[in-house]
Amino acid sequence: MSAAEIYWDIVPYVVLAIVVIGTWWRYKYDKFGWTTRSSELYEKRILRVASPLFHFGILVVIVGHVIGLVIPESWTDAIGISEHAYHIQAGVLGAIAGVATLVGAGLLVYRRRTRGPVFMATTLNDKIMYLVLIAAIVAGLATTFLGIDGSQGNYRETVSPWFRSIWILQPRGDLMAEAALSYHVHVTIALVLFALWPFTRLVHVFSAPVAYLFRPYIVYRSREDARPGELIGSEPRRRGW
Ligand code: HEM
Repeated sequence: MSAAEIYWDIVPYVVLAIVVIGTWWRYKYDKFGWTTRSSELYEKRILRVASPLFHFGILVVIVGHVIGLVIPESWTDAIGISEHAYHIQAGVLGAIAGVATLVGAGLLVYRRRTRGPVFMATTLNDKIMYLVLIAAIVAGLATTFLGIDGSQGNYRETVSPWFRSIWILQPRGDLMAEAALSYHVHVTIALVLFALWPFTRLVHVFSAPVAYLFRPYIVYRSREDARPGELIGSEPRRRGW
């Protein structure tokens, strides 16, 4: 067994353990620090463009990753999508979404550095997180652009089956070890990002306010619902006009 194989067999589980235990620990001991630490109050103009650009960009990047990593090549073959067609659509959509994400993240960092109050609210923790986040995005885009000429090999035969093997507890580090260096760099940076995740403001991702979509803005209760003579709260019932 080569060192690379052992690395890709073991490191993902170490990272998973850090994510699970770290998230539990952070929630238990820092519930009130569990926040995006929004800086909207300090600056709105750049944020209004940069934040959606980054967030919608990364959502598309995530959907692309789920499709590319989770769906086996044999399934897309079976419904008649050739390998060439798959890579063209993945490359074009991925590059557009990846560039949008990078521009959004770049603008967010520019804003943090140049807008005084936002800079003052930026901690060392934030700086390290931004550095690793942007490195992950740049390295991801590099795999896409370097792979345009096919020189990086087919990641759906190396990276993707390795990724799936982790979740079924039958790690195939040997497959990942065969992938091109660009994938080794990108995925290693991504694993560092995941390991830092529970200890940064990225925990806000686990608290996406999904319930907002389904609940009314304000819960109104009509006074008419009260039975005659019944008090609402401590207030005596008014007699009306
Ligand atoms: C274990 C985790 C990850 C794996 C196995 C992985 C794998 C890959 C692969 C195989 C590609 C090439 C796609 C192509 O050429 O079409 C890619 C691209 C990319 N990755 Fe990742 N990645 C991971 C995590 C991340 C993370 C955490 C980020 C960002 C924070 C990220 C950002 C990107 C970007 C921006 C691209 C460029 C193309 C696109 O937009 O999809 N990746 N990744």
